[in-house]
Amino acid sequence: MRIAVAGASGMVGRHLVGVLEARGHEVVAISRSAGVDVVTGDGLAAAVAGADCVIDVTNAGTTDQAAATEFFTTVARNLQETGERAGVRRLVVLSILGVDRFSGGYFAAKAAQERAVLSGPVPVRILRAAQFHEFAGQTLEWGRQGEVSRVPRMRVQPVAAEAVAEALADLATEAEPSAAASGEAPIWEIAGPREEELVDMATRLAARRGDPVRVEGVENPADPDRELVKAGALLPGPAATLAPESFEDWLSTAV
Ligand SMILES: NC(=O)c1ccc[n+]([C@@H]2O[C@H](COP(=O)([O-])OP(=O)(O)OC[C@H]3O[C@@H](n4cnc5c(N)ncnc54)[C@H](OP(=O)(O)O)[C@@H]3O)[C@@H](O)[C@H]2O)c1
Repeated sequence: MRIAVAGASGMVGRHLVGVLEARGHEVVAISRSAGVDVVTGDGLAAAVAGADCVIDVTNAGTTDQAAATEFFTTVARNLQETGERAGVRRLVVLSILGVDRFSGGYFAAKAAQERAVLSGPVPVRILRAAQFHEFAGQTLEWGRQGEVSRVPRMRVQPVAAEAVAEALADLATEAEPSAAASGEAPIWEIAGPREEELVDMATRLAARRGDPVRVEGVENPADPDRELVKAGALLPGPAATLAPESFEDWLSTAV
């Protein structure tokens, strides 16, 4: 198949391009660094021309709710409109576990993305993934101030970005998905094998790297969704695919 990957140069996009090419598909890489902008639409029509499927693994570059919502809904609309004109038969979109339950922040922006893409004419499949193992390193850097890094307390069930790429490739290419939907199709879920606490992941990552930073768990009392996270809203449901690589496995091989 000819498959366009929006966000091909990103953390999950790089894995996805590798997985699709290894399976013999023709991949069109979409990113601003490749000369295609999914927000302004520059180069987009030419990039999706002749594609059977478009997979969206772009990211907003911000966690601000308003800016991220503007990004994700604009991209959803542009991919739907350009995709329909090009005769694309399916859009596959990467989202995050539990986003439909959140009222604020980046998660609410992802929920808006889901609604926007589902409202368009091209058939959609959404994969909601758990946080990637690499998320521990991102939060360690985002929260770093001198010798301390403040990392949000979060119950997560982290997954390998490569396993997410494999699941996206399955949803893009299978006529009838082999994985069970999370309820009513078109939404599927993927997570890793076991629940972790993000603060503990960041602490173990720092130790593994020999990084002397002191990791402190923090909670934002102004966050209206913090009870949801404590209650496990970011964890997978019973139908989720559970990929085998644990955070501990990833630490010992990738770091
Ligand atoms: N990280 C996690 O733990 C996690 C977990 C579950 C789901 N997700 C979701 O996975 C998706 C991908 O995340 P990621 O961490 O892999 O992202 P990332 O590494 O930040 O990569 C983002 C990609 O989007 C491209 N991009 C950004 N703006 C663009 C634009 N205007 N036009 C064209 N391309 C654009 C970037 O390339 P250029 O900069 O060259 O344009 C890059 O290829 C996100 O939607 C995120 O919500 C992430």
